Amino acid sequence: MDDSNYPSPPPLLREPLSLGTVAIPSRFFLSPLAGYTSLAFRLAVRECGGLGLATTDLVNARSLIEQRGKAFDLAETCPEDRPMSIQLYGHVHDEMQRAARWVVDHGASIVDINMGCPVRKVVKTGGGSALMCQTDSAVALVESVVKAVDVPVTVKMRLGWDDQSLTAPGLARAFEQVGVAAVIVHGRTREQGFKGNVNRDGIRAVVEAVKAMPIVANGDIRTLYDAEATFRQTGCAAISIGRGALGNPFIFRQLARWTECGDPGPEPTFEERVDVMERHFHGLVNRRGARLACLQFRKIIKWYSHLIRPPKALYHRLIKLESVSLFDETVAEIRAEGPSAPLPGHFEPRVPVPSGPIDKW
Ligand SMILES: Cc1cc2nc3c(=O)[nH]c(=O)nc-3n(C[C@H](O)[C@H](O)[C@H](O)COP(=O)(O)O)c2cc1C
Repeated sequence: MDDSNYPSPPPLLREPLSLGTVAIPSRFFLSPLAGYTSLAFRLAVRECGGLGLATTDLVNARSLIEQRGKAFDLAETCPEDRPMSIQLYGHVHDEMQRAARWVVDHGASIVDINMGCPVRKVVKTGGGSALMCQTDSAVALVESVVKAVDVPVTVKMRLGWDDQSLTAPGLARAFEQVGVAAVIVHGRTREQGFKGNVNRDGIRAVVEAVKAMPIVANGDIRTLYDAEATFRQTGCAAISIGRGALGNPFIFRQLARWTECGDPGPEPTFEERVDVMERHFHGLVNRRGARLACLQFRKIIKWYSHLIRPPKALYHRLIKLESVSLFDETVAEIRAEGPSAPLPGHFEPRVPVPSGPIDKW
């Protein structure tokens, strides 16, 4: 971010924010990104500074109460990972209630209910964005979870199933009445998937539909300018950033500094960029073991390479990563050689998203 004419931060950003009883340190949240928002990544981003709230990948409520290892891994947290929200999906009241109690017993500050996921595996079970089509059952499900736990419950949703059924404003109003602490809105419909522009007017309609419940706007926020426009055009209480944080894990600290001083501060140094990559990798090794960490890092490394610009030969070594020692040796060489090109402020991470006919997702 190299422009000195930054827009002024809205005064709201300096006001404290709480979701129910949980104090949230900033109005900049990390969105759930299944396959990426692991505990290791969340902790690495937290250390960069400025983060208000992080959420886990979506976790299947039934798998959690059936004690499946994968669900436990996804719901993993630790005391440094606070405040944090564990996101559940499902549509069976009893399962969602039991899973919600389990995540609260295992450290969740907040329980988030997924009502936005468009993929078939989730929608065909009646969970994710399918819930937005059955508004009465969606409200009853959410109310049952609110009653089951004594921590705040939030809902993450889209604007609706398609342009003909924009159910988000009515749902948000009903959720507020049953005690939901906040709603996070991705400004697209299920039919849109990840295509087209985010509809900020659509998010504003959700903000206008509720009395006092905070609405968190989400979608395509990559820069301070996107953040400012989102606050201004939607009237939201906070914003949530997903793919933009993969492209720039320092975005939260830049936004927090903008809140305080009116500018995002200096770009992260080369050393800081390498540090965050190293923390992320070693966090994965410590929690998932060397093999899984290496496999996962092969897909993540391309983003870090945009951020760090390592010499080509060293990058090629990392995309075939096979051991922790190879990672450590390569990172030491990257540090010694420095960047091979000017370091960018941010870039567009090409995160694979489902595409093609939506009914085949
Ligand atoms: C790879 C990927 C995985 C996602 N996983 C989840 C998820 O587990 N739960 C959820 O509510 N949204 C999920 N989303 C949606 C994001 O949280 C977010 O709403 C969307 O990407 C738009 O925000 P962004 O432009 O800041 O990324 C996912 C998106 C992507 C691209």
